[in-house]
Amino acid sequence: MKNTLLVFGVIYGLLALTSLPELASADGCPFSTAGARRNLLAAGSPTAAPQPPLGSPAPLPASPKAAPAPSPVSSSRPTGNDVYGEGPLNYDFYAKTCPTFPDIVKRQVAAAIAADSLTPAQLLRLFFHDCFVNGCDASLLLKSTIVNLAERDHPNNFTVGKYTVIDAIKTELETACPDIVSCADILAAAAAEAVEQAGGPHIDLAYGRRDGLDSFAPAAKTNLPGSTLQVGGLLQNFQNVGLNLTDVVVLSGGHTIGQARCSTFADRFGPTTTSPFLDTAFGQALETYCTDGNTVGIDRRMTLDANTTTAFDNGYFRSLVLGRGVLTSDDVLRSDTRTKDLVTLFANDQSAFFTAFKESMAKMGRISVLTGTMGQVRKQCWVRNSIDTAVTPQANTDFAPQSLNFCKPADCPTAPSCSGSQQ
Ligand code: HEM
Repeated sequence: MKNTLLVFGVIYGLLALTSLPELASADGCPFSTAGARRNLLAAGSPTAAPQPPLGSPAPLPASPKAAPAPSPVSSSRPTGNDVYGEGPLNYDFYAKTCPTFPDIVKRQVAAAIAADSLTPAQLLRLFFHDCFVNGCDASLLLKSTIVNLAERDHPNNFTVGKYTVIDAIKTELETACPDIVSCADILAAAAAEAVEQAGGPHIDLAYGRRDGLDSFAPAAKTNLPGSTLQVGGLLQNFQNVGLNLTDVVVLSGGHTIGQARCSTFADRFGPTTTSPFLDTAFGQALETYCTDGNTVGIDRRMTLDANTTTAFDNGYFRSLVLGRGVLTSDDVLRSDTRTKDLVTLFANDQSAFFTAFKESMAKMGRISVLTGTMGQVRKQCWVRNSIDTAVTPQANTDFAPQSLNFCKPADCPTAPSCSGSQQ
């Protein structure tokens, strides 16, 4: 046993060494060791992590494959208002003021995917984590200041990434049409584009969201659903933002792309006799994979859809019906009487899932949006424009990063400067 651990340690050490150029980029960061480790975990090349033993009942983890070609763009797109709440979102919002908006988003997302096939998953999750916390107002993008810890610095957001893709889109837009397109709309458009470029449906979203002024870390704890929730808890969480049980099932289908850290489902491990996995061999293989990682202190990543990691399809639901849901919150959708029929439907009918997903994404994109003269259109997505816009007593009073060299582990992938955007 001791020898086995030694061999694992040596193999892992060698793998870590192969990542050195990437780690070296963390130089200049005061937390370089922790940052380098996080960098290793969250790096865009999941194949860098040791693979689980193959030949197990389910191939684990599915290696990210090239996503299928985007589905053809619908020729009949909706126009006009999508009225909601305080003010209207509009399908033609940028038609005159920034007609290149869709093209810029499309190109930047494609470039990001070419560099990292896990980009669509991260862009989709960015949008979800923004909308569920204080509405779709890009509050997730604001950086912490000297007096305020922002949403993105709550542990629930530590593994959220690809802020740099949003920043790249914003930078290009500020040249093409300055002060026009909000960061909240960029998040929405990038998520929709990501889904489509991963092989999912074309999603028409209406625009006109404005950027919020506040971002508070505790809100990320309260409003994001936990992975150990049962259906009742998930429903409550979704109802808090105006969504329903159908949306729970449909939007959980976002887990057809992307990965989860073993720590998010380690609560499900134990003796096979009491395994919560319907496919006990699958559960056993997951445990073996994750436990091996733990021997060297690594929180490994596992594909959420045992079929494919990067293709947006109905594979997630097909995995669920086979008892291969990874998170508790995924698996309960298969077993709960209130949700299992929809899971079965989507497992058998991808186009039904796609149609429902388009609708639920649009609903999610309307959560507590700011429109009209509310909020602002940020110049840079990670910082409010001006102190003049402070409206609440708790609002940030210093809108600059703590210092140009301020850096915490999560910033390290973009070191050496550690300022500006983070991955
Ligand atoms: C239903 C409640 C939900 C729960 C409990 C949940 C939980 C989680 C957890 C624990 C992870 C893994 C995070 C990590 O280990 O880094 C994850 C990943 C992910 N989630 Fe969810 N999620 C939910 C809903 C959603 C929704 C509504 C969407 C979008 C429509 C979404 C999209 C994603 C994506 C794409 C990933 C993969 C991210 C990556 O690979 O970097 N999730 N989710």
